Amino acid sequence: MKAGILIHDSIPYSRYMSRRLLIAANWKMNVVPTGALEKGSPYHPLSDIDIVVFPTFLDILECSTVGLMVGGQYGHPESQGAHTGDISMAILKNIGCRYVLCGHSERRASHGETDEFVAEQVAAALEVGLHPIVCIGETWEDRKKKKEKAKVEEQLSLLSLGSDLTIAYEPVWAISGGDPDKPAATADDSQQMHEFIRSLLPKDRQEQTRILYGGSMKPENAREFLNQEDIDGGLIGGASLDPKKFVEIVRIAEELLMS
Ligand code: PGA
Repeated sequence: MKAGILIHDSIPYSRYMSRRLLIAANWKMNVVPTGALEKGSPYHPLSDIDIVVFPTFLDILECSTVGLMVGGQYGHPESQGAHTGDISMAILKNIGCRYVLCGHSERRASHGETDEFVAEQVAAALEVGLHPIVCIGETWEDRKKKKEKAKVEEQLSLLSLGSDLTIAYEPVWAISGGDPDKPAATADDSQQMHEFIRSLLPKDRQEQTRILYGGSMKPENAREFLNQEDIDGGLIGGASLDPKKFVEIVRIAEELLMS
């Protein structure tokens, strides 16, 4: 259904009826931002927007205890066993996680996570009732060769896309402030990729599957990205560590929701 279709007398259809906006804070290997655990901090859940934080494993419990919606930055596909330094999906669930990131590009690059491994992670997460956010996105090399669509298609090919999951499209070259030698990712460009990704989903999941954008989202560009028809939220790294920037992005999301 597209904007303009009436679903009940005079209520126009809005994509937010099918897909709640999700603003996710990926804190990576950083300490919890100052004040984040206090009552009323911008990292707390809202009634109309999903706000989820991804702290280090050590901080998950405290974040969840004060009422933040939390996720793990990673979870191993096996449920237990000889995996030194790893953590299972069930442990994440038991300490209060509701979400888990799967296949973040930094883990694909530095921990050798393959599409096969990511598909196993997603299946394991679903099995214990964690909501996976699967990260996909092309490198600059892929884009130079005009292979960005082929890349994301390949990354999605092993996943059961009929499941209840979220996708985060993160062009690798745009993450962490981007690269001064490369152009910044644009909202138009990203919308095209999101539309393409949505077209790869089974027909009966296209309306409700959320596709987030990630890659240097900040207050200055959040409105442009979040305003795109197929961008259902953001996976935010650097700017999420600054409560002032994060609250501004959440405010922009709320404004768009109301408009
Ligand atoms: P960034 O990180 O916002 O700092 O680019 C996003 C991510 O890596 O998830």
